[in-house]
Amino acid sequence: MQVTHIRIGFVTLLLLGLCQSGNQLGTTPNIKDIVIGRCYNYITLVNPGVRYDCEDIWRHFEAVVLRQPSCNVTVDDYRTLFRLMTQTWPCGTGLFWSKTRSLMHSYAAVLPHLWTLEDTLVGYVFNNLVWCRRDQDSEFDFGSCPEWSSCSNHPVSSLWRQASQTFAEAACGNITVLLNGSIADAFNRTSMFGSVELDSLNPQSVQYVNIHVVTSLTGPHIESCGRGSVVDLVHRLQTRGFRWTCTDNDQTLILLQCIQNQASCSLTNLKSPFLL
Ligand SMILES: *[C@@H]1O[C@H](CO)[C@@H](O)[C@H](O)[C@H]1NC(C)=O
Ligand SMILES: *[C@@H]1O[C@H](CO)[C@@H](O)[C@H](O)[C@H]1NC(C)=O
Ligand SMILES: *[C@@H]1O[C@H](CO)[C@@H](O)[C@H](O)[C@H]1NC(C)=O
Ligand SMILES: *[C@@H]1O[C@H](CO)[C@@H](O)[C@H](O)[C@H]1NC(C)=O
Repeated sequence: MQVTHIRIGFVTLLLLGLCQSGNQLGTTPNIKDIVIGRCYNYITLVNPGVRYDCEDIWRHFEAVVLRQPSCNVTVDDYRTLFRLMTQTWPCGTGLFWSKTRSLMHSYAAVLPHLWTLEDTLVGYVFNNLVWCRRDQDSEFDFGSCPEWSSCSNHPVSSLWRQASQTFAEAACGNITVLLNGSIADAFNRTSMFGSVELDSLNPQSVQYVNIHVVTSLTGPHIESCGRGSVVDLVHRLQTRGFRWTCTDNDQTLILLQCIQNQASCSLTNLKSPFLL
């Protein structure tokens, strides 16, 4: 049974790949069980004490995705779903990031009080999933889904835009931003952080925006607090009345990279008053 299923999926993918290049993998298999299961896991083990109706969340999600053509699911369509998943978390814990995903995970692991989008119910439930509708019969399309860039209102990107916006709007106290100094445009106006989150932060409730620009151990060292697009970010923060700090190559972030990648870690990385 299992084998047949996989073979059919493979052939379908192959055919779709030949006819419609530009499409990616389809809806994540078993998405219903994953969404409901992750939701129960979250409310039972990850964050016990919060109350949500996991079955109702699935029903609303499914209705939004299957109601209209795949490229026509707007941020607004997810409003009701987000109301069902409303959540609060402590001030001073918001962690934002762009192009530093793996480092962000280690950072949040050693500083467990920090909250990223993935620690919220929405982020936890939908992390790494793909979904879209098959337009001929209004079912989930498990064969292929459009790429984000080929859709004006992609069902997956619309959910993440709404999630990022909600997460940023709720941020209060100090927040931390991890940016990648090894790429041009560490602060990229078209990234989720640059296009959605930054504009949704509220200068009245955010006390400090503490930016960390971190380069990979082996470089290149392209941007820093005083160089490149980070300067533009700081300028935008100032214009909107935020208080901010910016740190290049924070020691904790270097040490975490050294632990992840010992071969690239040299004495020069570790040479600092902090360690001597
Ligand atoms: C796309 O959504 C808009 C607004 O919800 C609606 O007016 C329009 O008819 C939809 N287009 C299609 C092709 O379904
Ligand atoms: C910065 O981005 C590059 C290219 O995407 C990536 O290889 C590298 O791991 C990132 N560095 C950090 C510190 O996240
Ligand atoms: C908030 O950030 C500022 C600037 O980095 C720092 O001086 C202050 O101690 C921080 N407050 C808290 C509560 O962490
Ligand atoms: C900025 O981000 C967008 C979307 O992720 C990407 O397509 C673009 O290449 C980035 N710009 C630079 C200069 O990296």
